[in-house]
Amino acid sequence: MLSKKLLTKLNEQITHEFFSAHYYLAMAAYFKKEDLDGFANFFEVQAEEERFHAMKFFNFIYDQGEEAVITGFKDPKRDFESAEEIFGLALEHEKLVSSLINELMSIAQEEQHYPSISFLQWFIDEQVEEEAGMSKLLSTVKRVGEKGHGILMLDRELAARTFTPESE
Ligand code: FEO
Repeated sequence: MLSKKLLTKLNEQITHEFFSAHYYLAMAAYFKKEDLDGFANFFEVQAEEERFHAMKFFNFIYDQGEEAVITGFKDPKRDFESAEEIFGLALEHEKLVSSLINELMSIAQEEQHYPSISFLQWFIDEQVEEEAGMSKLLSTVKRVGEKGHGILMLDRELAARTFTPESE
């Protein structure tokens, strides 16, 4: 059985994950406007991944015999100015999500709630990948700059990303 504290935090995480999807979709919109469709694809796939994360929390709550509470969230930022700014913000956001997942894990461990510990371990591992991926792309964008051949090559590379739920 989930404690009230853990259930509340798990429910809040559904909202954080859906907010992440919206935030990344706003980033995709910036790249669409810039005609960088590969970058837009990367963030569209990222948004799908975040919805998948949200649904994992949603389903886990029901698997534990509890009920999900769906709430809203603030508008995401929309006034982006560069690819470098976006990847910097995306990395910052993933670090925030990692801290939320770590907090959830700490509560689960304090309460010795083993199903939650096992469930959350997937997210701990996932956040390592999420942060590393964003960090690498931020470095690459800094290196190639906002204009020229490099950014177009990277755009082509990012166009190939697809959503694969089992490995995400
Ligand atoms: Fe759901 Fe990008 O972490």
